[in-house]
Amino acid sequence: MNEGCVHVEVVCRQIMGEHRITVLPGDGTGREVALEAQRILDTIAANTNHGFEQTVIPCGGQHYLSTGEEWAEGSFEFCRDETDAIFLGAIGYPGARLPNGDLAGGSVILGLRSGLDLFANVRPIKLYEGVPHKIHGEFRQIWQPGMVDMTILRENTEGLYHALLRRSADRAQGRPEYEPEPMTFPGLEGEVAYDPRPISANGSRRLIEMGFEIAQTRNGAPVDGVRRVSCIDKSNVTRGCQLFRRTFEGVAARYPETDVDYGYIDAFMQWITRSPEHYDTVVTSNMFGDIATDLGAVLQGGMGMAASGNVGAAHAFFEPVHGSAPKHAGQNKVNPIASINSIQMMMDYLGRKTNDSDLIEVGRLIDESVADHLKDGKHLTYDLGGTTSCSAVGESIAARLAAKLSER
Ligand code: IPM
Ligand code: MN
Repeated sequence: MNEGCVHVEVVCRQIMGEHRITVLPGDGTGREVALEAQRILDTIAANTNHGFEQTVIPCGGQHYLSTGEEWAEGSFEFCRDETDAIFLGAIGYPGARLPNGDLAGGSVILGLRSGLDLFANVRPIKLYEGVPHKIHGEFRQIWQPGMVDMTILRENTEGLYHALLRRSADRAQGRPEYEPEPMTFPGLEGEVAYDPRPISANGSRRLIEMGFEIAQTRNGAPVDGVRRVSCIDKSNVTRGCQLFRRTFEGVAARYPETDVDYGYIDAFMQWITRSPEHYDTVVTSNMFGDIATDLGAVLQGGMGMAASGNVGAAHAFFEPVHGSAPKHAGQNKVNPIASINSIQMMMDYLGRKTNDSDLIEVGRLIDESVADHLKDGKHLTYDLGGTTSCSAVGESIAARLAAKLSER
């Protein structure tokens, strides 16, 4: 066991290997889907030369309610110093609030986003064949597979979340917690609560640059195969968005081969609903991206299908976009595909980071296994109209992956 494990309360299941993966199951159903993410890691390790050293750290709001801590001391440092990539299940539990009113477990999800400078929240929205949409309580095919395939990049360290992110990162590292300077608001009387929304040129630039780089690895928009980066903001009204758009224009000028377009967040909500095929790569600010990707999840079959990566220059963590869904917890029923696809993103990330094209290929084979599973359509969880359990879906996809990996 390495030094970092000593300081944190962990369930260490050591598998010697070149990639150190920290698993943060978190709350509610996060704990169930984390097991399926681990099953995929185990399947890769068993069928390739890639190995993973997995360290599981209990954390979150539920953990806070039972122990008084969001996670054990030293956990942030372990994630920072002794981890190559992190998987996070979900954070959030009813009644789990810190004395200052913040989300208990925020040190984990928000503390890592800010503390590890994970400036891009990368959220692919892809509709697989065989996936229905739950609309009016019924399962229907609304959008066409192949016509929904975009990636939204949500700025992840500033914007409307900035103060909360900083405070959470400070708490995670045992520093005095940041509070913005008090402001006055002419015309407002009585108690006022507010969240400053700083947007910086640097923060915007690095996100937008990553958007253009990701666009180069994709196949363009479904409608025309053209590589396109869309800048989504509210620059008709806010200064932060005006800076974001101006920064976008500067970066776009360096990518003359890539098509660009612009939209306001409110209009964008109707366009992705009506014509998702127009979009390839989208960049936007923090809160807009939070909201847009929940709507985006509907286009891909629901929150159970939505995977994400929180990515910075030196670190990354991968998580399903859905929350802890406490009402479904303990029933082994939620969809593990968002988590399995988060591991797919993790493999792609590690492959690119370590220049290992085989890991990128492993990521692609996870995608293929998920696609085959969904096309077959026999073993779906309740959110996709089936009755299959979370673990059985995980087993079925893992079996397909094992076959693909061993056939090579
Ligand atoms: C998400 C979640 C988080 C967010 C919550 C849990 C703090 O909704 O990852 O989208 O608002 O960013
Ligand atoms: Mn969200």
